[in-house]
Amino acid sequence: MPTKLRAAIIGAGSIGGAHIQGYLDTGRFDIVALADLNAEAMAEANELYDIAPVHYLDARQMMEEVRPDVVSVCTWHKGHSPWTIAAAAFKPQAILCEKPMADTVGAAERMLIACERNDVKLAIAHQRRFLPSYTLARNLIAEKAVGDVNLIQSLGGDGLPNFSSHQADMYRYLLSDDECIWVMGNIERKTDQYERATRIEDRAMAVFQFAGGPRAMILSDLVTNHYQGALIYGSDGMINLTTESLQLLNSETGGRWELRVPDGKFFTVEAVGHRFEWIEGAAAQADELADWVEGKIEVHRGQGEHGYKALQMVHAVYESARMHEKVEMPLQTRVNPLDLMVESGHLTPQRPGRYDIRIGRLRNENMTEDTEN
Ligand SMILES: NC(=O)c1ccc[n+]([C@@H]2O[C@H](COP(=O)([O-])OP(=O)(O)OC[C@H]3O[C@@H](n4cnc5c(N)ncnc54)[C@H](O)[C@@H]3O)[C@@H](O)[C@H]2O)c1
Repeated sequence: MPTKLRAAIIGAGSIGGAHIQGYLDTGRFDIVALADLNAEAMAEANELYDIAPVHYLDARQMMEEVRPDVVSVCTWHKGHSPWTIAAAAFKPQAILCEKPMADTVGAAERMLIACERNDVKLAIAHQRRFLPSYTLARNLIAEKAVGDVNLIQSLGGDGLPNFSSHQADMYRYLLSDDECIWVMGNIERKTDQYERATRIEDRAMAVFQFAGGPRAMILSDLVTNHYQGALIYGSDGMINLTTESLQLLNSETGGRWELRVPDGKFFTVEAVGHRFEWIEGAAAQADELADWVEGKIEVHRGQGEHGYKALQMVHAVYESARMHEKVEMPLQTRVNPLDLMVESGHLTPQRPGRYDIRIGRLRNENMTEDTEN
């Protein structure tokens, strides 16, 4: 029996649990350690996933003593860069860090550099790349099943960095990782709104132009419904994509919508219902990570550069709003343009009073923020 990879998790909260489940579902990992500021969170993870890893309140001590093969960084956004860099110093074989890759493009660049210098493989958890409906749509687009893609349209919410980090990444995945060449967008921010301790806007909309010709458009917090997926308009057909299935309409379907519900590598929609996107995405992403670490493949579908580009696209919307211009990519601004706009007085909240839409996720009354300390 092949040796299992030893995985450790930094941040044993909700998505930390999804990573644990994903690693276990592949049968290729042991969960050897958890690090969290909150002992209760780790105890809950033990119970929920029926595991018995070593617990640490200090992630650096965990890295030093356990020396895991693979590390998941599952803290809030601002912790992604400092903890990836801290973990990279201990030279695990791979780090799987949550999205958005970082809170600034500069911080994401430092992650890429730290991992490269320490010879650590870095992947960013845009796990929808591993959903079979997304891959089917990507393949159909590549085969020109809808002709030339003119527009990919999606609806986001809860601020661009969280939800639409996935959508920015989805555009590129659907277009065979085509490059975004410019971004034009605008935002409104009348309230002092945060999402997991990162400033977010009240509303946004943006257009993304890709090198090969297609365009994508996002409406975020502008309409009441939002979902992961897209409406894809081509010169010869359309795809209506969700995380579980897709519908295709083209001349071969006789102008009618044809439903496809592809099976995952580990689960089927039929068997697990709405849990499919989470458990299939997490398992397939972890499985490919094991392949990558074991040298069976050269590239991971979620490798660092893709997370970096998705973050650039999101921050380019803010930069477009800040500069009132079409932003040419790659984005040159290393700090968060939304922070810049607010801190420079360019965008003053008209209804002051900071609040965090994820406040309910914090444990304890000290309202611990997710930072490197
Ligand atoms: N890929 C996805 O679809 C997806 C879904 C949900 C969340 N996320 C991302 O995952 C990240 C975490 O979100 P969540 O909902 O799991 O948050 P959470 O609050 O449930 O969990 C975060 C955990 O990190 C711990 N933590 C904070 N600082 C720490 C530190 N310095 N050392 C160790 N542990 C620390 C907290 O105590 C908490 O238990 C976010 O960046 C979010 O965007 C991604």
